Amino acid sequence: MAFMLKINGSNRSVDVDGDTPLLWVLRDVLGMTGTKFGCGVALCGACTVHIDGTATRSCITTIDSIGGSAVTTIEAIGSTAAGAKIQKAWLDREVVQCGYCQSGQIMSASALLASNPNPTDSAIDDAMSGNICRCGTYVRIREAIKHAAQPTGTGR
Ligand code: FES
Ligand code: FES
Repeated sequence: MAFMLKINGSNRSVDVDGDTPLLWVLRDVLGMTGTKFGCGVALCGACTVHIDGTATRSCITTIDSIGGSAVTTIEAIGSTAAGAKIQKAWLDREVVQCGYCQSGQIMSASALLASNPNPTDSAIDDAMSGNICRCGTYVRIREAIKHAAQPTGTGR
């Protein structure tokens, strides 16, 4: 069945079963491999995208549940104000180790910063707790989010 999706500002038509997870469509149908597969059951956060600005696990989001909502992926997050700040902070603070979890981390952090420009430690922990990093970059992730939240956008 054909579904029309709004992804990163473009309309994309995909012909898949309605219960196909968005993650599969992004990676295997549309070739957008920045969004990662980790657990497939909403436990790791590697597959996080935004749906209407909300951080969402694409591995358990079926295509027929999306409707006309706007999907944003790691490929376009840098074109949003919060996403650009987060990506710069990730570079400034050298957050990444192996990198596998990091597109999901950036998507969750960008959604947090867009909704809460000056998050407390506990708000950061709440927003990021579902994103697992096997390399243990959690301290740098928290520093980078605080860095991105500085008023100038350039941080300390
Ligand atoms: S792959 Fe979706 S949460 Fe792990
Ligand atoms: S940077 Fe390696 S899993 Fe997070």
